[in-house]
Amino acid sequence: MTDIAATTFPSTFLWGASTAPHQIEGGNVGSDFWANEGRVPGMERSGDACDSYHRYAEDMQLLAGAGCTAYRFGIEWARIEPEEGLFSNAELAHYRRMIDTALELGLTPVVTLHHFTNPRWFAERGGWLADDAVDLFTRYVERVTRILDGVEWVVTMNEPNMLSMMTAMGRDMAVRAQAASSAEQDGGEWTSPTVDNGPRPVQLPTPDPEIGQVFVRAHHAAREVLRARTTAKVGWSVANRAYQARPGGEEKMRELSWAWEDLYLAGSAGDDFVGVQSYSVQYVTADGIEPYPDHPDNTLVGTAYRPDALGVAVRHTHEVTGLPILVTENGIATGDDSRRIAYTTGALEGLAAAMADGVTVHGYLHWSLLDNYEWGHWAPTFGLVAVDRETFVRTPKPSLAWLGGVAKRGQL
Ligand code: BGC
Repeated sequence: MTDIAATTFPSTFLWGASTAPHQIEGGNVGSDFWANEGRVPGMERSGDACDSYHRYAEDMQLLAGAGCTAYRFGIEWARIEPEEGLFSNAELAHYRRMIDTALELGLTPVVTLHHFTNPRWFAERGGWLADDAVDLFTRYVERVTRILDGVEWVVTMNEPNMLSMMTAMGRDMAVRAQAASSAEQDGGEWTSPTVDNGPRPVQLPTPDPEIGQVFVRAHHAAREVLRARTTAKVGWSVANRAYQARPGGEEKMRELSWAWEDLYLAGSAGDDFVGVQSYSVQYVTADGIEPYPDHPDNTLVGTAYRPDALGVAVRHTHEVTGLPILVTENGIATGDDSRRIAYTTGALEGLAAAMADGVTVHGYLHWSLLDNYEWGHWAPTFGLVAVDRETFVRTPKPSLAWLGGVAKRGQL
């Protein structure tokens, strides 16, 4: 009895997949990420990506054809405002066509307004650390509201917690580059003040809470504009690391939870929903994050195979916010599609169990629809659909039909 109840989803539940503009569109030349791809050694270029800028209708047809009912995609600020204060009506019309296409196919559009990338001009004038950054973002959001008629779900910003970590890294790199160039001019030798030598696993630095507050302000300003000009439900999506404390790690976990997640979850107070994005769990000891040990089950991005992470993530988000939840990302980087189905089955079981315990969840959007550009790398494949990088031919994997089947039945 409980098993059946726990694996049945409401008939209004949204089922689908997520993407981000820079990762699939191709030719996003006006963005800061594009500029950096050319500069950072070892990073692959996004290039034409999946050419979804031109092939979005085909992408959406695949999703809808499989039986899914929702598609999360983003609007690229760098295209809407290619120069400061210069807005492109043609690009606004492009994204409006995407919204219309989704609606015509019976896909509920979930529209993200910012997914990591900024216009290059914005980055060059100080990015999110400039005094008027929030005003500039709000002005862009105002413009976008012109095309949001009929859109029910808007995500203002994707993973502001990851973004604040990346913003701090960018700031620190700029400081180091500046120090290096002054040392060079002085004929002296420069060594990095922050990079440790020695065989330590690469760990992400904790996001800077001051930068985090900038994003909270940006989100609130965007929400105000969206509420005044649209009827959409407004929220943002937070990367959830599904922390689990090792004995003695409880206090450290609370500290990390605040800096990585809860500050941003607190920022969602007053929203209509919160987006949960979850991939793996993260153990915390008294010293901090425990690196993922090498294991044959690890994913292609080196994280542990933990389908149960999603359940942990939605429960934590529910406890902190009490808001309705939309799972805006969950998935696995793997070359073995049967692993993807197994992982997603486990994740949905955890989700259903949380819902049975009273957590309100409105939908599940898998990351990702396509094998796409994973921020500097093409090898980690997260897609329900493979994409030939030369011809852009799409080949659905069995997991797409599988997810569509779950969507049609509303049942695992
Ligand atoms: C991001 C995506 C990314 C995915 C997998 C999320 O952090 O929103 O853009 O591709 O994780 O790494």
